[in-house]
Formats: sequence, structure tokens, C-alpha cells
Amino acid sequence: MKLATKILGPALAGLSLLLACGASQGADTNKGQQLYAANCVICHGQAGRSMMPGAPSFDRGDGLLRPDFTLLASIRSGKNAMPAFQGILADRDIMDVIAYLRTLH
Ligand code: HEC
Repeated sequence: MKLATKILGPALAGLSLLLACGASQGADTNKGQQLYAANCVICHGQAGRSMMPGAPSFDRGDGLLRPDFTLLASIRSGKNAMPAFQGILADRDIMDVIAYLRTLH
């Protein structure tokens, strides 16, 4: 059971990422910006200048060397002090936010 979750979890995440990427060809950075303002700005700050110790500053490029897949997984599931956004934002929305983050550096 545990092993199946270990193997299937990432496989399913990869599959839905492919679907999300397919759907978001030409990701919408304007929409990403709005979603960022609504959900992320309290910690990651205006224009990506971090407001919270330990939260990456996207204006310095913190964290952005990681591939979209890794960032999507972190945002979905949460990471340490960052809450999970699965169920709040659709994968496609998260991909739009990631595309916006990549414009900040
Ligand atoms: C409550 C504060 C908080 C909110 C809200 C928040 N984050 Fe974070 N975020 C963090 C912290 C803290 C980290 C660093 C986690 C760590 O590596 O320990 C982080 C890390 C990240 C990373 C790097 C992930 C990685 O794999 O290293 C990304 C990308 C990110 N956040 C994007 C977002 C986006 C997009 C949103 C809005 C949808 C968001 N965050 C909302 C606090 C927050």
C-alpha cells in the first residue's frame, strides 16, 4: 500500500502536470499575477520581494531554478511554513502563477 502510494503518487502528479501544461500552453501571466496577489503576496511580497523570513524572494530568483514540476508539487502540497493549495487552486491556475513568478526575476 505504502509502496504503491510512493510510486503512483509521483506518476499521477506527473500525468496531471502534463495535462496542466498541455492546457496552459501560453500560460496566462496576467491571471497568474491576480492569483498571486490573492494567495501568495502576504508571504512572498509585492513583486516577489519576500515578506516572511524563510519564504523565497522571487525577485532575486530564489527557488526559480527548480523545474515547474517541482514548484507545482511544492505549491500543491505545501512546504514547511507554506500551506497546501491543492483544492484551493487548480493545477492550471498554479501553472499560471508559476509563469508569473518567472517574470519577476
Ligand atoms: C503563509 C506563507 C506563504 C504563503 C501564503 C505562500 N507561501 Fe510559498 N513559501 C512559503 C515558505 C515559508 C516557503 C519556503 C519553504 C521551505 O523551503 O522551507 C515557500 C516556498 C515557495 C516556493 C519554493 C518551492 C520549492 O520547491 O522550494 C514557491 C515556488 C512558492 N512558495 C510559491 C508560492 C505561491 C505561488 C503561493 C501562492 C499560491 C505561495 N507560495 C504562498 C510561504 C508561503
